[in-house]
Order: sequence, then C-alpha cells, then structure tokens
Amino acid sequence: MNQQLLEELVGKNFHYYQTGQVANYIPALAEVNPKQLGMAIYDIKQNNLIQAGDASARFAIESISKVPVLLLAIEDNGLETVFETINTEPTGFAFNSILNMEINQQKHPMNPFVNAGAIATTSLIHGKNMDDKFDRILSFMKEICHDPAITLNEEIYLSESKTGDINRSLAYYMKGNQMIKGNVEEILDTYFKQCSVNVTANGLAHLGAVLANKGIAPWNNTRIISEKSATIVKSIMTTAGLYDESGEFSAHVGVPAKSGVGGGLMAAVPNCYGFGVFSPALDNCGNSAAGIQLLKDVVAQLHVDIFD
Ligand code: DON
Repeated sequence: MNQQLLEELVGKNFHYYQTGQVANYIPALAEVNPKQLGMAIYDIKQNNLIQAGDASARFAIESISKVPVLLLAIEDNGLETVFETINTEPTGFAFNSILNMEINQQKHPMNPFVNAGAIATTSLIHGKNMDDKFDRILSFMKEICHDPAITLNEEIYLSESKTGDINRSLAYYMKGNQMIKGNVEEILDTYFKQCSVNVTANGLAHLGAVLANKGIAPWNNTRIISEKSATIVKSIMTTAGLYDESGEFSAHVGVPAKSGVGGGLMAAVPNCYGFGVFSPALDNCGNSAAGIQLLKDVVAQLHVDIFD
C-alpha cells in the first residue's frame, strides 16, 4: 500500500458518509461535520506511517478508550483479577444495554467493550484519587498513541456527563449487585472523561500497531504492554469490538477492531499493521459507516483478513 492508493481508497469510499448519521444522543457530537474521512496505516515491517484524508483531524475517542483503559487495568491488576471482574463473551445487544446483565442474572458484566464492562474496567484503574486516575489514563493514551497532544475535550465531557443517565443506571445496577466496588459517581466521572479525549486516526494507527506488534511500540522498540495482554485484547476486539455488528464485521472485513461513536475505528493486524480510521457518520449499530467500507477495501487490498 502506498500513499496514492490510500488516497484513492479514501476518495472512493467518502460518499458512504451519506448512509450514516453523526451521533445525536450526545449534543456535542451532533455538531461534528459528517463530511470527513481519513485513514492512517502503521506498517510494522517497514516501520512507517502513511496517511490520507482527515487522518490528522481531532475527534472524541469515545468507546475506543475502552481498549487503552483495559490495557492499563491489566497492567495495574493483572489479567486474572481483571477477567474475574469482567467476562469476555459477546452480547448481541446494543452497547449500552442493561439486558445482558439481567438475563441469567449475570454476576459480571459480559465484556469490557460494552458500556457496563467498560465502567467496571475503569473502576479497576489505580490512583490516589479521581484526578490521579484520569491523569494516569491520559498519560497512558498519549504514550500508546504516540501523541503528546491528546487532551480532554471539555465540551464533549460536559455533554457526556449531562446526558449519561443510562451509564449511571448501568453503574448503579452493578454496584447494587456487588459487581463493582468504589464510589460510583467518581467511576462514572472518570469514564465520561476517558470517552471525551481528543485523538486522531494517526494516533489510533499507533495504538493498533502496539497491539499488532505483541505489545512493543514499533517506533522505538519499547515494550508498553505484555504480550499476553495484547493477545487477549485483540481476541476480545474480534468478538466484541463493534458491538452487535461484530459478527458481520468479522465475516466481511476480518481484522480485530474497535469502534467509537465519535466516528473512530482502530484495528490491529497481528505482526503486520495498525490501522486508524475516522469518519463521524455512524450506521445503526453506532459504527462509522464510511470507515467500515474503507477498512474493508484496505484489508482486501493488503490481503490481511486474519481468517484467510
Ligand atoms: O458511554 C457512552 O455512551 C459513550 N460515551 C461511548 C459509547 C461509544 O462510543 C459506543 N460506540 N460505538
């Protein structure tokens, strides 16, 4: 893949933004211009990054934050503790559904990438107080995305917090059923902040590259996370990274990926590539409409469907 071909694929898939809509359940996201599409590809073997379209545009990381926060929770607590608290099963339900916990009286949230599981993951982050915990999350995101310019988007954060009642219900349900410990309002505040961090497709390609490269940052050959952690997180991305569209995405695109309602998509092709994509208009499941089409073309072009 070269720059020119990537630009051509961005141009070819741009029109798909018309098949989606920007997220409207969070007011600050509803104001984002839908006419954007960009992609960055980190090639691990060549150790280089190519980018096209709106790859440097900043947008809210939203649910893609569930990946770095899970990685940090594993670093803080170890794999065993994290996966004693949170299961690793796909749900088939919408990302903010409470049903999957109620059915069969689950003792744990179903997986770390639905909102309930993500809130439980955030509750495991170490720190002296709430601010310290968020500072640790932010520093970790800067490191793993290789992007020191990542900041909290205050407007999105206030919007998330103001409209976050379903997340509050999930968190109180879990606390009431002894599924999480700690101060619920503080955990939620940290969760709202982690979703409201501004990233770029370039940064997400770096995050994908660390996962693809067994936990080692290819740009400086430094280990950021354990190999086992990178393996498990890629496997959960494969089964639950795109919510109730995960099965279809695995069947028709075929790479471990994670989406966010800010329009981001991050993918990791084991030992080969990290991908970051951005296009804010979403399909019915809350995933980037043009982003998925572009990723599908790139995966086909590079012949990197992991099931091939
Ligand atoms: O918890 C929420 O509602 C959002 N802040 C994040 C959700 C999200 O990105 C789901 N994604 N596709």
